[in-house]
Amino acid sequence: MPCVWLLYVSITIPYRNYLQQTLNDAVGKRIVIDFLGFNWDWINKQQNGNNWGPLTANLLLIGQEGNYTPVHYDEQHNLFAQVQGCKRIFLFPPSQFECLYPYPVYHPCDRQCQVDLRAPDFDRFPKLKRLKGYEVIVKPGDVLYIPMYWFHHVESIIGSGITTSITFWYKSGPTGKIEYPLKPQQKMAMMRNIEKMITEALNSSEEVPPFMQNMVLGRYT
Ligand code: OGA
Ligand code: ZN
Repeated sequence: MPCVWLLYVSITIPYRNYLQQTLNDAVGKRIVIDFLGFNWDWINKQQNGNNWGPLTANLLLIGQEGNYTPVHYDEQHNLFAQVQGCKRIFLFPPSQFECLYPYPVYHPCDRQCQVDLRAPDFDRFPKLKRLKGYEVIVKPGDVLYIPMYWFHHVESIIGSGITTSITFWYKSGPTGKIEYPLKPQQKMAMMRNIEKMITEALNSSEEVPPFMQNMVLGRYT
């Protein structure tokens, strides 16, 4: 896998707008007409061919160049369609979990990572140095598959003007027979469930960190 560390050129733009709107009955008729113009035969073929569950949501993202979405993962498969402008996307497989330090599940930033890839703090997050992933640039007409639980960081490329993207999110399909060893994404799902159970049983998110530390520190580390 290629290394992802790049030099970011910092630019000063006072603020940027980023519309993120779920496509539903409330959006304008012309947007709906455009949306129906997607190649649904091809889209449905991807869904069926990959055994995904139902399409749950489409998010329309329209933003100014220079916008970025910090590294996180989603719990659904995503066909990410780029319509206008270009985006640079960094993708990291679930095996990179420990290098990215995701927030605890009860935290408001659940599914996002504590690390900032644009200003890496290697003292606080030493395993970040080992992070390996992929970089891809999507242009109008491209569709990128972002598998469930894959971490991604998305930037609207400076100089490419307004960017427009549409996501197609699908639930995972039926699990089928479980095979061992479990895959990193299956372990991530397990960790989420365990964290949820512990938070619920303790009935207080504040009690979770000392509880978890008591459980593992000195015994499993
Ligand atoms: C996604 C996503 C962010 C963006 O499609 O899952 O995180 O800025 N997109 O395009
Ligand atoms: Zn995402």
